[in-house]
Formats: sequence, structure tokens, C-alpha cells
Amino acid sequence: MSVGSEASPPAGSRSVLQGKGIHKYLGSGERQVHVLRGVSLDLREGRMVSIVGPSGCGKSTLLYLLGLLDRVDGGEIHLADREMGAAGDYQRTQLRNEHIGFVFQFHFLLAEFTAAENLMLPMRKLARWGEEEMHERAVELLREVGLAEKSERRANQLSGGEQQRVAVARALANEPSVVFADEPTGNLDVKNSSMVFDLLNRLCHERGQAALLVTHNQNLAGRCDEVLTMQDGLFVG
Ligand SMILES: Nc1ncnc2c1ncn2[C@@H]1O[C@H](COP(=O)(O)OP(=O)(O)O)[C@@H](O)[C@H]1O
Ligand SMILES: [Mg+2]
Repeated sequence: MSVGSEASPPAGSRSVLQGKGIHKYLGSGERQVHVLRGVSLDLREGRMVSIVGPSGCGKSTLLYLLGLLDRVDGGEIHLADREMGAAGDYQRTQLRNEHIGFVFQFHFLLAEFTAAENLMLPMRKLARWGEEEMHERAVELLREVGLAEKSERRANQLSGGEQQRVAVARALANEPSVVFADEPTGNLDVKNSSMVFDLLNRLCHERGQAALLVTHNQNLAGRCDEVLTMQDGLFVG
């Protein structure tokens, strides 16, 4: 699988997030593990990059760091032209709400809330739009993922595939610069995996968002603009 690292960014594609020589240790004492051992990558507008690699090699740890959910032990993360190490927790939370969307393997929707309400939660945190506009935006996004007619249905009344499509829409709710998806199709059958991947792929390209996808599905990985292979906390190709 050598496709990836040879692909060069399209002309004019702006870099939105860079990781430079990232190191991370987890655990303490004798059980401390050097999980990431100098990882660099560049995420650009409208490009979808995938990471493949064996379980335990550090993929989720990297996404957590790049998504500002945890701090690096070495190296740098640049987002919105700022180095994140210098940013305080409040600023990092603000930047995360504004610039970053997440899709996980499990959808993490609030079961008792409607699909639209689930999309409005991250919008509320950002506090950029009024109540009515947030609802309109939620319905429009749900239309984009093929769920317009289910916007007022409670999350626990949707199928697994539909729930994950709502999770994709929720990740895009604040028009983030970057979307991180950590095995988003891991719980889905082939048909729904393909649908969720196509959605992420299409929406990121249409909206000019950068996307980083962790997946065990070689077929989906190969359909990204670039494929990075991780082994023992390093990119090897
Ligand atoms: N809290 C922790 N303490 C010690 N080691 C951890 C902790 N969390 C994760 N790890 C280790 O870090 C490594 C990378 O984990 P992870 O990023 O989840 O891998 P992946 O997503 O590639 O499967 C694994 O070896 C895991 O056992
Ligand atoms: Mg993982």
C-alpha cells in the first residue's frame, strides 16, 4: 500500500492543521508506554487522509491529540496558524468547538433527544446562531445525509446506520476546518459502511474541509486522497 504518501496536495489546497514530530507517553512508572514516537502530518482543505495500522499502534491517541482532547509530550500541533502548546485549556476548547468535528465508532448521540436536537448541541456550545437558525441548519444538514424526514425522530428510534449518519452530520454542524473519524464504520455492515464513508468523503470535498479517517477497511482507506500506515507509533509509509 504505497498509494498514499506519494500523492501531492492539489494546487491551492490550504493547510489547516499540522502535526510536527509528535510524541506521547501513556501510563506511568514501569508500565509507561512511548505510544507516539515522532509523528508528522499535514491536513489540507478538501482532502481526506486515512490512517491504517494494527490495533494498539497509536491511531486513536494521535486523533485525540490532533483534536485537542489531550496534550502532546513532545512536538507541535498547529491549527488556525497557532501553535497549540502555548494555548490554555479555555482557548483549546474554543478552538475545538470552532474548528474540529469528531465521529467515533460508537455514535454517542443522546438517545432521548431528536436527531435535530443532537445536531444543535455543538452549535449551542459555539453560540454563533440563534435557536431558530440552529434548527434550520440542523434540518438542512440532516437533509444532506439523507435523513430530512427523520429530523424530529428520537435518536434511539433510528437504525444503526441512520444514527451514524446523524453523527456525521453532527461532526459537521459547526462547519469545522477538520473532521476526525475514528473507525466510524466499525459497527456497520458493508452497505452502511459504504454509505457513511461516501457521505464523509462527499461532504468534506464539497465543503473544503480536511478529514482524517482511521479505518481497518482497506477498501475505504484506498479511496482516500492519501493513505498513511502507522506501526508502533510511527508512520511507515
Ligand atoms: N491510559 C493508558 N495507559 C497506558 N497505555 C495506554 C493507555 N491508553 C492507551 N495505551 C496504549 O497505547 C497504545 C496505543 O493505543 P491506541 O492509540 O488506542 O491504539 P489504536 O487506536 O491504534 O488501536 C496501546 O498500546 C495501548 O495499550
Ligand atoms: Mg483506536
